[in-house]
Amino acid sequence: MPQEDPVADPSLFDKIVNLSKRRGFVFPSAEIYGGFRSTYDYGPLGVLMLRNVKNAWWRSMVQLRDDIVGLDAAILSPPAVWEASGHLTNFTDPLVDCRSCQERFRLDKLEDQHICPNCGAKDAFTEARQFNLMFKTFAGPVADSAAEVYLRPETAQGMFTNFMNVLTTSRKKPPFGIAQIGKSFRNEITPQNFVFRTREFEQMEMEYFVPPDEAARWYEYWCQERFRWYADLGIPESKLRLRPHDPDELSHYSSGTSDVEFLFPWGWDELEGIANRGDYDLTQHAQHSGEKLEYFDQASGERYVPHVVEPAAGATRTTMAFLMAAYDEEEVEREGAGKGEKRTVLRLHPQLAPYKVAVLPLSKNEKLSPKARDVLHRLQPHFMTEYDETQAIGRRYRRQDEIGTPLAVTVDFESLDDNAVTLRDRDTMDQSRVPIDELVDVVRERVG
Ligand code: GAP
Repeated sequence: MPQEDPVADPSLFDKIVNLSKRRGFVFPSAEIYGGFRSTYDYGPLGVLMLRNVKNAWWRSMVQLRDDIVGLDAAILSPPAVWEASGHLTNFTDPLVDCRSCQERFRLDKLEDQHICPNCGAKDAFTEARQFNLMFKTFAGPVADSAAEVYLRPETAQGMFTNFMNVLTTSRKKPPFGIAQIGKSFRNEITPQNFVFRTREFEQMEMEYFVPPDEAARWYEYWCQERFRWYADLGIPESKLRLRPHDPDELSHYSSGTSDVEFLFPWGWDELEGIANRGDYDLTQHAQHSGEKLEYFDQASGERYVPHVVEPAAGATRTTMAFLMAAYDEEEVEREGAGKGEKRTVLRLHPQLAPYKVAVLPLSKNEKLSPKARDVLHRLQPHFMTEYDETQAIGRRYRRQDEIGTPLAVTVDFESLDDNAVTLRDRDTMDQSRVPIDELVDVVRERVG
């Protein structure tokens, strides 16, 4: 039987936004002042998960490889960088205003270019104007054109401008890569869909410099490699796809791009772009700076401008996708009571889960608490561990399920005698007894 295509679930969107707020993953920014459109703050759980996503990326792109090194370049940069990169001229979106309701839209994102989606007015749009998405500000006390600087709209350019610095200090040779994680800023006309498209966001980008005749092969390699990264961290392959861009979609620098797409609640949309950028970037920066940006191969005596293959992902967008992919609701026997109840569970990969393990004394009791705190202190140096002793144990299990904690440790009155605890699995709800002295090793085996 042919497999049916998965269908997007629109109801998932509100569930994730609500859970994010209710449990402390993501809050609307400046909420006490009425919020600030399209900016978000990562709460106690969100900051842990976002960091885990970035660490997982760094681990696979830098730590586990000997051909990629890291960088952390400045966010502020002079206009010369953006002149050379083409962003001052090309990094624009077509903007239209509705003459009737005064709302602004990106022309290319309108479902019907004749009807205003806000007020329904027909053919009320102004002529499209090209709107540059970069945030401009001023360095120093004088706000004149000589002091103009830009907040970077992508992390990529820092890796091109540092190409020679990295090449000479790291002693790498093509094929090799430079990886960077950091904030980027785009004055998006229509920020939307929670943290999917925001004006301030985090990227995880890698520029892979290769001999020109190897670019096509490495482009294929990185498409496969990046697809696998999402699948290995728990997104079902049925909700992932690689989509090559049509020629009219390509960015100004790209000779080929494929997106890794995820089935979001509103349909398929981009998680990451893998682009074959050719020698565009190094050539542009060489011309504009007057510096040679080349590689000299001493063995062959050959000098060339490496080509670049770039996997460019979004850390904040990807974190939301992992949340959406992990969300599950199921009917279960209530633990201890045997009655049917609905359980919400985030089946997050242990590497991404904010907390790896929770320590839950059976009840708030003066004999149990010291024992439970001893268990907490044994676990804390090794894993992000949560401690919770209020409310009935069943409700505390549900809370840990809902925030994706893979394991819960229950300290009960027997623990005082046998020096063992009950270890509960988030996904199966199976429970087993583990000696406290073996707990760190058992937890490590289960959550890595
Ligand atoms: N250096 C190439 C580059 O920046 P991009 O496709 O514009 O390519 C890469 O961005 C990734 O950054 C996107 O796939 C997305 O995950 C993330 N991203 C881009 N704009 C974003 C925004 N406004 N809000 C959140 N994430 C964004």
